[in-house]
Amino acid sequence: MKGILLAGGTGTRLHPITRGVSKQLLPVYDKPMIYYPLSVLMLASVREVLVITTPDDRAQFERLLGDGSEFGIALSYAVQPEPNGIAQALVIGADHVGGDEVALVLGDNIFHGPGFSGMLRDARTGLRDGHDGCVLFGYPVKDPERYGVGEADADGRLLSIEEKPEKPRSDRAITGLYLYDAGAVEIARGLRPSPRGELEITDLNRAYLDQGRARLVDLGRGFAWLDTGTHESLIEAGLYVQVLENRQGIRIACLEEVALRMGYITPDACYALGEQQAKNGYGQYVMDVARAAR
Ligand code: G1P
Repeated sequence: MKGILLAGGTGTRLHPITRGVSKQLLPVYDKPMIYYPLSVLMLASVREVLVITTPDDRAQFERLLGDGSEFGIALSYAVQPEPNGIAQALVIGADHVGGDEVALVLGDNIFHGPGFSGMLRDARTGLRDGHDGCVLFGYPVKDPERYGVGEADADGRLLSIEEKPEKPRSDRAITGLYLYDAGAVEIARGLRPSPRGELEITDLNRAYLDQGRARLVDLGRGFAWLDTGTHESLIEAGLYVQVLENRQGIRIACLEEVALRMGYITPDACYALGEQQAKNGYGQYVMDVARAAR
């Protein structure tokens, strides 16, 4: 399975901050926003990831993440010249996907909760045995009209999906993590732009729904799926991370730690990464985690 991380967009709701820097590079407490969705792909055992940015921001993402080798993964980069929709990421990434299954994640989505790795593993199993064509993750919110909204039956089979409906049929927002079988790129290529001129991910998902092969996994109320789209929600996401990290002495979405735990890098390599940042608590934490694994 290949990964695509979409970090495009103009971030207008966060202006003036995002006039000078990409939204997905903004800090969520102690690390750049993009670390959070990248850690999700790594936890899903996806090790070849295409990062799609705006033309202006690409160099900064490359400076931050490089070729991924320090985290035991392979990162490559592409640009989305205009914000023409999430599904366009699959068209841009067609060569990267190359007939494989694909996990697409939005660069501003933060997921945190118990059992997430297991859910990702199960989702991949459903795709592998052909049972599901796509797996989506739903989360109950109080303002579903701001999102893609899905409805599922008791078995998790998707029954309906709508993009930002005026009258949502459920409170289940479709989060920005999408797992697809090998057919997704072809479906994306065949999509017509929506009235707002975008290749809508909801239209792509509806194609799988029409085949009866779309699954909606419920993340449940004990889970955190955090928004970063407004000034308030961005600081709230940072506070959430700060509270949990300070209380438990852990770090959420620490890429060095995820790489170590997934077996992508050795404890020694992890320690060396921590040493490079030894002057702050993040680096110290990476060194501690590596020491404990030796
Ligand atoms: C996009 C999708 C929407 C999804 C959301 C998740 O909306 O179109 O279906 O629920 O991401 O973050 P946007 O944030 O681009 O308005």
